[in-house]
Amino acid sequence: MTSLAPIAEPFQRFGELLSEARAVGPERLPEPTAFALGTVGGDGQPSVRIVLLKAVDERGFVFYTNFESRKGRELLAHPQAAMCFHWQPLERQVRVEGRATPVAAEEADAYFASRARGSQLGAWASFQSQVMDSPDMLDVRVREMERRFEGGPVPRPPHWSGFRIVPHRIEFWHNMPSRLHERRVYIREAGGWRVEALYP
Ligand SMILES: Cc1cc2nc3c(=O)[nH]c(=O)nc-3n(C[C@H](O)[C@H](O)[C@H](O)COP(=O)(O)O)c2cc1C
Repeated sequence: MTSLAPIAEPFQRFGELLSEARAVGPERLPEPTAFALGTVGGDGQPSVRIVLLKAVDERGFVFYTNFESRKGRELLAHPQAAMCFHWQPLERQVRVEGRATPVAAEEADAYFASRARGSQLGAWASFQSQVMDSPDMLDVRVREMERRFEGGPVPRPPHWSGFRIVPHRIEFWHNMPSRLHERRVYIREAGGWRVEALYP
């Protein structure tokens, strides 16, 4: 019988690395929470872009976006997602594969409420990923939203929320001399994680 690592283990390991990445400081690592997010379209075409990690715990990795954007539509139709963090000053990479599910409305409301007012208005103003008819349309729409919500709080737009990527595979990569890098992969199984070492 093979022994399984406890559910918490790769999340703890990830949390330690993220803390190390934050400690590097903004000059050498300006966006420690940034990761490449891979999604897939109906034709099998993958696409990738950078987003920011806003929460992580044993349930998974959370980021926020416009659900009508390309990534939003793709994840709603095909929840298979991939993530890749690269913390160059730490010589570390973390890769995650899993399924994306929308976060609860209350969770998204709480995060939206914590954002700067300008970002809240921007979430209303932007038809993210859609074609803009003229270059000044975004400014026009931002001013429109400023008027609309003047003097009151900005509620979360119905098309703006978070996805939680529930991982079934997490790989930790660490640079080593002569390209003999260390790779440790956690594969989700009932009751825990199978842990394997991979050739670099
Ligand atoms: C450092 C950085 C952080 C970003 N963070 C986010 C984010 O958290 N959410 C988001 O929707 N877009 C974020 N973006 C913009 C995305 O990369 C992307 O341009 C946008 O979401 C549209 O992607 P899509 O058309 O594939 O949906 C970020 C871009 C950069 C460079």
